[in-house]
Amino acid sequence: MIEDWVSLLLRWAHIVAGIGWIGSSFYFMWLDSSLKRAEGMPAGVKGENWSVHGGGFYHIQKYAVAPERMPADLHWFKWESYSTWLTGFALLAVVYYWGAESYMIDRSVADITQAQAILISLVSLAAGWLVYDRLCKSALADRPVLVFALLFAFICFAAWAWGQVFSARAAFLHVGAMTGTIMTGNVFLVIIPNQRIVVADLKAGRTPDAKYGRIAKLRSTHNNYLTLPVLFMMISNHYPMTFGHEWNVVIVAVVLLLGVVIRHWFNLHEAGAHGPKIWWQWPVAGALTAFMMAFSAWKPNAVEVADPVFTPEALAIATVHCASCHADVPSDDSFDDAPAGVMLHTASLLKSHASRVLAQAVLTNAMPMGNDTGMTEEERARLGAWIRAGMPDE
Ligand code: HEC
Repeated sequence: MIEDWVSLLLRWAHIVAGIGWIGSSFYFMWLDSSLKRAEGMPAGVKGENWSVHGGGFYHIQKYAVAPERMPADLHWFKWESYSTWLTGFALLAVVYYWGAESYMIDRSVADITQAQAILISLVSLAAGWLVYDRLCKSALADRPVLVFALLFAFICFAAWAWGQVFSARAAFLHVGAMTGTIMTGNVFLVIIPNQRIVVADLKAGRTPDAKYGRIAKLRSTHNNYLTLPVLFMMISNHYPMTFGHEWNVVIVAVVLLLGVVIRHWFNLHEAGAHGPKIWWQWPVAGALTAFMMAFSAWKPNAVEVADPVFTPEALAIATVHCASCHADVPSDDSFDDAPAGVMLHTASLLKSHASRVLAQAVLTNAMPMGNDTGMTEEERARLGAWIRAGMPDE
């Protein structure tokens, strides 16, 4: 109970912080591309924007390098990012570390302890940042497309590697967690410190080195393109057709491409691009989505069921593999109540949840959680055959 409350409150805080971060980041991307030159702008101003919102008018001006005199009050946009990471990490700890037995460990994947699972998670998240940071500081940094392609390959590799030690669900979530960590790392360890150097230089009357701007630009471009994929990863752990696929690395790759293509359209569109430049993204995004949907429905090694399956057999399967958690009084020590309010210990309950059972335990292997009970492909196929045949009693 207390675990559920902590998890709900943290989730709430995390989403609110994330909206703040992504909202301000999208706003500034848009603001930058909306700037127009006008008569009588002060010296050093590159462009301005007039907006109306909430009953008032806003007049924003952007200085190309810096204003002549630093204002006393300068607002920094950083806590949106930091608080998103902090609440996200706390949520990871509460749901996945605290509940590692159910959420992170799948003994059919790797027989690890809770402490090992947590250690692997922490070390791999930190390593993800270090590898990425090295990449950006390497000689390749002058070739941004190549850097991004390598980052793409690295994220797919990490997804595969986590799949060798964690449950599919935890592996998928770690893809989002690592990418989010990279994004906040960019803000905390690169963009803001560089901005401080520039501000200090300006205050002291020195001309800031232009390299700081270039470095920050590379990092913030990565953040911009990674936003949509991260959001997808974070919400998809409630959708087993994504993480639950045997080849979920393919889904990770498609989601990355999809997010990048859609974001690219917005970037170009906001910058005023017309014609063929912005024609291809939505058709490509549509094709990628269609491919992802078709791919998620494909089940390699699906088992054929020849004879009909009747309710008693289906209930027997659910009793062995589901009812230890999904019952009014779960026998599994980790749960006081049926998880997600789903009870599967009687035939009528099993029937009423049939479509969700199909999604979680037949089309994918998302359930039983961690496959503690060792449910076989044969049993999944038989449960599926029963549901598809209209759940005949005899
Ligand atoms: C070890 C405990 C455990 C076992 C065994 C188990 N589940 Fe679950 N199940 C969970 C937990 C925990 C959740 C909640 C997941 C979450 O936080 O979204 C859940 C959620 C679900 C949901 C709701 C998911 C949704 O959001 O729609 C369904 C349906 C489900 N399980 C079906 C099954 C089926 C079918 C079986 C047996 C084949 C099974 N579960 C076995 C722990 C278990």
